[in-house]
Amino acid sequence: MEQVEKVIDEKIQGKALVTESKQENSKKLFIESYGCQMNMNDSEIVASILSEQGFNTTQNLENADLVLVNTCSIREKAETTVRKRLQKYNRVKKHVNPKMKVGVLGCMAERLKEKFLEEEKIVDLVVGPDAYRDLPNLLEEIDAGRDAVNVILSKDETYGDVSPVRLNSNGVSAFVSITRGCDNMCTFCVVPFTRGRERSRDPKSIIEEIQSMVDKNFKEITLLGQNVDSYLWYGGGLKKDFKKASELAQATAVGFAELLDLCAKEFPKTRFRFSTSNPQDMSLDVIHVMAKHKNICKYLHLPVQSGSNAMLKAMNRQHTREEYKELVDNIFRIIPEIALSQDMIVGFCGETEEDHQDTLELLEYVKYDYGFMFAYSERPGTLAAKKMEDDVPKETKQRRLAEVIALQRKHGLYRTQQHLGKTEEFLIEGTSKKDPNQWKARNTQNMVAVFAKGDYKLGDFVNVKIEDCTSATLKGTAIGYSDNN
Ligand code: SAH
Ligand code: F3S
Repeated sequence: MEQVEKVIDEKIQGKALVTESKQENSKKLFIESYGCQMNMNDSEIVASILSEQGFNTTQNLENADLVLVNTCSIREKAETTVRKRLQKYNRVKKHVNPKMKVGVLGCMAERLKEKFLEEEKIVDLVVGPDAYRDLPNLLEEIDAGRDAVNVILSKDETYGDVSPVRLNSNGVSAFVSITRGCDNMCTFCVVPFTRGRERSRDPKSIIEEIQSMVDKNFKEITLLGQNVDSYLWYGGGLKKDFKKASELAQATAVGFAELLDLCAKEFPKTRFRFSTSNPQDMSLDVIHVMAKHKNICKYLHLPVQSGSNAMLKAMNRQHTREEYKELVDNIFRIIPEIALSQDMIVGFCGETEEDHQDTLELLEYVKYDYGFMFAYSERPGTLAAKKMEDDVPKETKQRRLAEVIALQRKHGLYRTQQHLGKTEEFLIEGTSKKDPNQWKARNTQNMVAVFAKGDYKLGDFVNVKIEDCTSATLKGTAIGYSDNN
């Protein structure tokens, strides 16, 4: 279960984030992030806004003036983890650092609003995902001894003009947000409530941000959105207002396939990834654009959540298992070497043994390279919480989850083994955790390889001959630079 557990851990673990300092800044910000990549990127936006307010980041909780935790509400466990962290801050405040102020950002802030201040006495500041620009004012409020809350969601905030400071960066790969919010209303999901309506960012500001990353020698950019396939720029605002936009705005609108094409053409030496795709909004145009450009990675995260039609319907996922299979067939037909990963929820309301078997069958059909698998966790405020019964017993959920994970693990190993004996291009992104003399690098399919460092450097594209593997890591020998350097 190693591979699967590792990736799940990465999704929920917090990270204390640090960055380069500005000399003139004297205040210290400790910021950590839980949950999705979007939260990591948002923390970079927050650090950028606060850098203008005299804050440099620190990794040391004990001397921080301001402690911010960017939170996740996706499952109950994610929230429990954050509450435990708040207890830790409490102890530090009490015994070591009485002057520190504590703020919560992100999805839990949005979900709990003022209630957070009552429930967790340590909290001075509550700021939702669309209100980070208000941080300077809110900090003034808490300096004046008042509690400060801003959880207003916006229909057009994209932070397009904020240049994120890269936190804990390896200097090689970075995230760039392209949409915020989600309009899909999957019945189990809290995101539409905590992150608001879907809106897209001006392609011009996306290209400018990528240019600034390329100028700093970054080699790989991941375009981020809750649902990248519904990216649509026609001049700003909510997607639902698109029809009302002027004819000119409609005629010049940019969708995700066009944006991807634009990025790949503009920066031919930069690798592009994107996440997350949604089967109901994904068009094959995107796959054709991927096929056309060598610098768009041949890897697709395509969550399905369940293999059962009854569950897909109850979840309000707008496709059937047959349609999903057809999409996957088409994707493999256009890009045979593509790697696929999934998100899967087991034990959703009313899930029968037969539904579960359908999920296992779908996994067998696709044989995903990776997977992120979860037991259903009821979230307050969602349609499922209001209208459906969370009726699958905990032990059944755990058993089904174990079965799904075991099968995914088998497929992961199978997919990994397909690389044996091949020579593939990898981008060096850091030192192997297990061996300081080895590099860790990633190929187009998002698979990790480790190999002896030799004279190669961080950020080099190298050809690696794959000789061995574990379930999730390739081992090999670098045999030279690739032509992408
Ligand atoms: N579109 C998003 C999905 C966000 S949530 C993205 O960019 O990744 C990530 C995953 O968490 C979902 O795909 C789903 O598999 C899982 N998830 C969401 N709500 C959940 C819940 N209530 N219980 C268990 N898992 C959940
Ligand atoms: Fe959540 Fe479904 Fe959107 S899983 S983020 S509501 S696509």
